[in-house]
Amino acid sequence: MDSTATTPFSTLIRTASHEQHTEAESSTFMGDMLGGRLGVEAYTRYTEQLWFVYRALEDGAQSLREDPVAGPFIQPELMRAGELERDLTHLRGEGWREGLEPLPATAAYAARVAECAREWPAGYIAHHYTRYLGDLSGGQIIRGTAEKTWGFDRKGDGVRFYVFEQIPNPAAFKRDYRELLDAVNADDLEKQRVMDECKRAFALNTAVFRELGEVFPLSA
Ligand code: HEM
Repeated sequence: MDSTATTPFSTLIRTASHEQHTEAESSTFMGDMLGGRLGVEAYTRYTEQLWFVYRALEDGAQSLREDPVAGPFIQPELMRAGELERDLTHLRGEGWREGLEPLPATAAYAARVAECAREWPAGYIAHHYTRYLGDLSGGQIIRGTAEKTWGFDRKGDGVRFYVFEQIPNPAAFKRDYRELLDAVNADDLEKQRVMDECKRAFALNTAVFRELGEVFPLSA
């Protein structure tokens, strides 16, 4: 029997993106950052890129609140743009936004998120899943490294993006989130398209890491 019909969608989407996850995880930039080999400027540039992506995700979320497919995923406790703005104020100062431009890969990523939000709510879910479930998982490893490497206060300014104040139990939240995925009202073909979009979301992240890696080649 077609496994799409029998396997929970949360399992399908995780399995479908497994290879891309490994690729993103093992990108040179991520490896250098998590290995403590990069300076705070690299971390700041990365945080700036995230701001463009979350602005697209969360601007898009506004119009999707009532959407029958994407609506249930729009949860205020996930919203990150405000936290990124606080982190950037800490990292760069009040004028952090002046002259700030996304890297080309970031602009392409944000544009695709915005396009899905406008035209394809199920596709938007792929982007929502890729970022927020990742932030609740591996994001916590990045936070720990950032605190240790660049001396941010534990869960304080500079790493607030990774701190979900209103999600005291991430494991339980992720369980509920997977139930939402399993309940998505879409046929097998549409689910397949969402899985493909998820792979694309990972590839868009990897492209941002690649460009950041070009800006911050490891000199050590
Ligand atoms: C070096 C960086 C990374 C590390 C160390 C890491 C680590 C992890 C770990 C340990 C989990 C499993 C958590 C669990 O089962 O509860 C996970 C899940 C996940 N990660 Fe990552 N990750 C990294 C990068 C990324 C990136 C760049 C993305 C995408 C932008 C991402 C997206 C996800 C997603 C969507 C999940 C949830 C999978 C699921 O259970 O459905 N991760 N990550």
